[in-house]
Amino acid sequence: MTDQVNDPVQEVEATREAFEREFERFARFTTAAADVSSLKDAEAELRSLADLRVRHAGKKSAITAAKKLIGRVPGEQRASFGQLVQKTEAHITDSLDAAELALKTFIETARIARETIDVTIPGRRPRPAHLHPITLMRQRIEDIFVSLGYAVEDDREIETDFYNFDALNIPEGHPARDPQDTFYTTQGFALRSQTSTVQIHAMQRRGAPVRMIAPGRVFRRDTPDPTHNPMFFQVEGLCVDRGITMAHLKGTLAEFVHRLFGPDTKTRFRPSYFPFTEPSAEVDYSCFQCGGEGCRICKWSGWIELGGSGMVHPNVLRAANVDPEEFTGFAFGLGIDRTCARIYELDDIRLLFENDLRFLEQFR
Ligand code: DAH
Repeated sequence: MTDQVNDPVQEVEATREAFEREFERFARFTTAAADVSSLKDAEAELRSLADLRVRHAGKKSAITAAKKLIGRVPGEQRASFGQLVQKTEAHITDSLDAAELALKTFIETARIARETIDVTIPGRRPRPAHLHPITLMRQRIEDIFVSLGYAVEDDREIETDFYNFDALNIPEGHPARDPQDTFYTTQGFALRSQTSTVQIHAMQRRGAPVRMIAPGRVFRRDTPDPTHNPMFFQVEGLCVDRGITMAHLKGTLAEFVHRLFGPDTKTRFRPSYFPFTEPSAEVDYSCFQCGGEGCRICKWSGWIELGGSGMVHPNVLRAANVDPEEFTGFAFGLGIDRTCARIYELDDIRLLFENDLRFLEQFR
């Protein structure tokens, strides 16, 4: 080649050909039918196309450079050379614009399709939440005692021997520790075996007088069976004031069963023994199902056991720094899950702890 500088017309044609070669693969994108398989592809092609535009129609493109060649074109050919450059440039930008429009149209349509909501698809039915039967039972009990002026105490489940036993008048070696055997941590703490521990905490915190109930979880070293579980729920009650007598205890629990089971419910107190009360009594109520006639629920006795109760032992008051010369009190302890199982006629108390939704969903 002798002449290093090409003929300007050839130069413009070469520019057009170079563009044509690279643009070829974009020619399939027409508004009539953009031949592209997915939204992702279309987005990628649009980016390559923008690239192509920079290279073939931008400031540093060959066609922009070709415009300057007009100085080398003889005067009489300049007009036609100008036209050629213009035509070529228009061809390049028109081709780019057409492909770009096709891709953008495709992308927009695909995006709309993706975001469209099919209002005819059946909705997902929300599952309404509901409370656990033990929680429902606990709330009913709390409501009654709160309306009688009792505070609701919530206390720790891990205890020292002092709160679980000693302060409740159960010294080391006392036989009452046996049926209350529980789980111990390696640091010598015990999972409380009764909510009676809260009596001590409440009196230490509030002093006397005090009226409180304490619902909560307790633990025993029991093997699970239809009537036992190593973890269950109790409500403790405590009322300490000047001049409190057994009559207050009886009246309070009678009122409680009236509100829980109906105004015709009777109560019965049987002498019993608990280390932390003196005297102590076991409380029964007349069966809510048969009213005392005898039926399956009360095992044909007419009575259902509510729990233990009694007059707070002076040693317990002393352990909590309450003067037994000035104050007396009564206390009681009821099983929440036991009452729950009775009311719902559950044959097996473990149903309450298995978390089987098919069972739990029946209680609302
Ligand atoms: N803590 C006793 C138990 O778990 C129940 C109980 C009995 C609580 C008599 C009391 C009470 O407050 O006075 O078996």
